[in-house]
Amino acid sequence: MAAAPPSTLATDPTTPPRVFSGIQPSGALHLGNYLGALRNWVALQDDADAVYCVVDLHALTLPKEPGEVARGTLDIARILLAIGLDPANVILFAQSHVHQHAELGWLMQTVASYGELSRMTQFKDKSNRSQNFISASLFTYPALQAADILLYDTDVVPVGDDQRQHIELARDVALRFNSRYGETFVVPEHRIPAAGARVMDLQHPENKMSKSVDSPQGTVNLLDTPKEIEKKVKRAVTDNDGEVRFDVDTKPGVSNLLSILAAATDGDPEQLATQYSQYGPLKADVAAALIALVEPIQARLTELDDATVRQVLDDGAERARSIAGPVMERAKVAIGLLV
Ligand code: TYM
Repeated sequence: MAAAPPSTLATDPTTPPRVFSGIQPSGALHLGNYLGALRNWVALQDDADAVYCVVDLHALTLPKEPGEVARGTLDIARILLAIGLDPANVILFAQSHVHQHAELGWLMQTVASYGELSRMTQFKDKSNRSQNFISASLFTYPALQAADILLYDTDVVPVGDDQRQHIELARDVALRFNSRYGETFVVPEHRIPAAGARVMDLQHPENKMSKSVDSPQGTVNLLDTPKEIEKKVKRAVTDNDGEVRFDVDTKPGVSNLLSILAAATDGDPEQLATQYSQYGPLKADVAAALIALVEPIQARLTELDDATVRQVLDDGAERARSIAGPVMERAKVAIGLLV
């Protein structure tokens, strides 16, 4: 079997870590995306070598109208710039513009097992919710996600808690590939924030806030107006005992509000709980913190047009290809294709 370890894999303490993450262009971005992942994307851009991807191919795993994904890709990229990603600092691109993703995605399907993919909770959830058509790609999705990450010799993957299992699978397939075919891929680690890793739906606090679930009153979008945010937070489901206490199991609604407030203000949910004796003032502070969070993002958004965003994505794709191309070749050589 197996080629010698390529020298590029040697960890050099003087080079910044490579960070990679992705987001689907389906539906509006919500508070969970921001607090769980995007905030970290921005925070990491100065000290890491960051590569971020709008994963348009992943969005096709659930049926889409023609044109919907193209529009969604531009819209999401625009918001990513508005939240503070600086194209001078990061590579930002659309997944389908770098063909190596689909190509390595196939190789990853040969090293991921049916059993592993069957255990993915996101597949179980999404396939249970799809009433008519469950595409094969919904099942093989984590293999493509592993390819996304491994193509960039990624050290760190900033994500929310719901992606933990997918990143662990990416690690497992990288290790398996390396042991079958020789050291080829860097084995990545996830970076999940202490606060905001799992933002729950305001109406159904036992479920996570999600783009793919229809719960408009339970989901705070980054583009919601202050009035909409106030209304949604005011109507957030709590409970009847009237006590402000952080206890996810017995008080999921109140605990979610405390977690959101903690994530938005860099506080601690248990400590914050001691500052309130009623739900009303807690909700008012949560709404105010969220409005303060989204206002600057919405202001920056008005300065960005489609042409600017397209240019950023085109430049990003070119830079992404220059990294992904050689890694793809390395994988082909290692696995034993005629190159
Ligand atoms: P996606 O598009 O569903 O979500 C983007 C990011 O937002 C996080 N997130 C949340 N965090 C906290 N609370 C929530 N309620 C919440 N909802 C979403 C997600 O954890 C994610 O970090 N499979 C991925 C996209 C992907 C990817 C990748 C990620 C494709 N390839 C490679 C990392 C690396 C997804 O569907 O994310």
